[in-house]
Amino acid sequence: MSAKNTLDSLEVVPTGAALGAEIRGVDLSAPMPEEVKDALRDAWTEHLVLLFRDQEMTEEQHLDATRIFGEAVVPAAKAYYDKAGKQQTWAAKYPEITVVHNLDDDGNPVQQNESLGSGEVVWHNDNSYAEKPPAGSMLYGRRLPPSGGNTCFSNQYTAYETLPEDVKQKIEGKTAVHDASRNSAGTLRPGVKLPTKPSEVPGPHHPLVCTHPESGRRALYLGRRRAYPSQYIDDMEEGESEALLDFLWEHACRDELVWAHVWRLGDVLLWDNRCTMHYREPHAGTHPRLMHRTQIEGAQPV
Ligand code: OGA
Ligand code: MN
Repeated sequence: MSAKNTLDSLEVVPTGAALGAEIRGVDLSAPMPEEVKDALRDAWTEHLVLLFRDQEMTEEQHLDATRIFGEAVVPAAKAYYDKAGKQQTWAAKYPEITVVHNLDDDGNPVQQNESLGSGEVVWHNDNSYAEKPPAGSMLYGRRLPPSGGNTCFSNQYTAYETLPEDVKQKIEGKTAVHDASRNSAGTLRPGVKLPTKPSEVPGPHHPLVCTHPESGRRALYLGRRRAYPSQYIDDMEEGESEALLDFLWEHACRDELVWAHVWRLGDVLLWDNRCTMHYREPHAGTHPRLMHRTQIEGAQPV
């Protein structure tokens, strides 16, 4: 076997789509020299989503691999589940690892559960309902259905750059609310009530256009499409805000901005949560799908 984790072994192979690159010659479970870590961080900044194939990691190794790119943090959603006494979406002993799965309490595949189930997961930035959303996530496929459940990514730098000038002007300096009451599968979090008016919406107000702290480039930052009042643009009348949000969402998820990843066992995906959104296609729900996800500490979007 040829040596891995050297600058010579490292290959960065762009997907050819609007974002994403496959990294070859890297074993995330083995020690990583500092110069290779630097090269991986550079590749991440340049390609926004990195794919590592044929990986085999323990929880500790997954956390170490995550830490190449920043601090591994405990996800913001955990507090809701802890409060409701629901534990099964966290790996035992590793609160930084979320188990994203479609199993019921008996371990059988189902359509809906307390995790992301088997259905469609709408376009979103992870945890945008937090004051400091994660900079990125590393998702490791451990059990996969025979087909379906592809994870798709959309380039939000390009989304911003290709907006019509008048729309850029309309959203300049504007913020929007990011409702914390539901997860990305649209399920109301345990112990939380659905807001019925703006004053009831829990969650931060983030700029619609954010500057990436590493690249210095501007990206659209939309979070999740929720009906009024769970998403609205501040200081804008409801009708105008809804129409503008509809336009922005349609623009931000266009096919030409998207790369769809078809999973293989042992795949690891690392995405930048500050300049990409992601979406999961549904799958039949007749087979287990189980992933381990870590998240990288982020800053307040500006
Ligand atoms: C996530 C997520 C999609 C998937 O873990 O944040 O959106 O493909 N997952 O499971
Ligand atoms: Mn997600």
